[in-house]
Amino acid sequence: MTLIDGKATAEEYKSVIRQEVAALTARGLRAPHLAVMLIGNNGASETYVANKMKTCRDAGFEATLIRYENTVSEREVLHKINEINHNTEIDGLIVQSPFPNHISPQKINEAIHPAKDVDGFHPVNAGRLQQNKPCYIAATPKGIMQLIERYKIDTQGKHCVIVGRSNIVGMPMSILMSRNAKPGNCTVTVCHSKTVNLAQYTLQADILIAAIGVPEMITASMVKEGAVVIDVGITRVPDTSARNGFRLKGDVKFDEVAPRCSFITPVPGGVGPMTIIGLLQNTLLAAKHAIYN
Ligand code: GUN
Repeated sequence: MTLIDGKATAEEYKSVIRQEVAALTARGLRAPHLAVMLIGNNGASETYVANKMKTCRDAGFEATLIRYENTVSEREVLHKINEINHNTEIDGLIVQSPFPNHISPQKINEAIHPAKDVDGFHPVNAGRLQQNKPCYIAATPKGIMQLIERYKIDTQGKHCVIVGRSNIVGMPMSILMSRNAKPGNCTVTVCHSKTVNLAQYTLQADILIAAIGVPEMITASMVKEGAVVIDVGITRVPDTSARNGFRLKGDVKFDEVAPRCSFITPVPGGVGPMTIIGLLQNTLLAAKHAIYN
């Protein structure tokens, strides 16, 4: 069994990004600039956003955090998005989800200009991904594809089973794994909360991607011997012995599943660090006007 080290891989990619940023600024261009909007004070979002800001700055990017109280109106957020869309000093914008209930994720995603949508959530980017056109690929699927590439995992003709159909992970992942590319060319099955007898499908997976958000739902009896297991789950579960009162758990029951696998990602230190790299890569593409000019 090979443990896929997302943390080490992310460090390698970050140093490549840092070098590219240094080359841009040496030519007199400004550093890539990401704006991050955070609404409210969801604990997990606070941590993710702090990590995104820090990694951006480590790589030589400029990063601006725009914070709003939970009570901010949708109108005010949309107004700010419009302002950033027109700000030529900002290359990329993301609004950290989840949002308060009175703010529509669809309206937010559609308000961000596709050229600045470095999360890849705008329907234009999602549609262009589906049609195999240049686009921003959502950061988590993009990071996973790079892990698969980095570890030289053979995907062609394999059966990839994805559990979860979200716009952030499952849906774009199914497109990337099935498209005619390397990595890619898988036969893909997408399972979800209404799938009957989930294990019947997961047991067929050569590559199993769990993006459910239910801690330790994938157990050893659901995994084929020799499978590649990618765990996208990252749920905070209370743990009084932990310094901050919680522990991060993946969707996979790691200790019993790992011995069956050819490759597996741990939580934390697997997919998570590569998600941030995907975001930085997209922001760099935005700064270079590589997708839209
Ligand atoms: N919340 C969980 N994952 C993500 C992500 O990739 N982008 C944003 N904006 N919010 C998230």
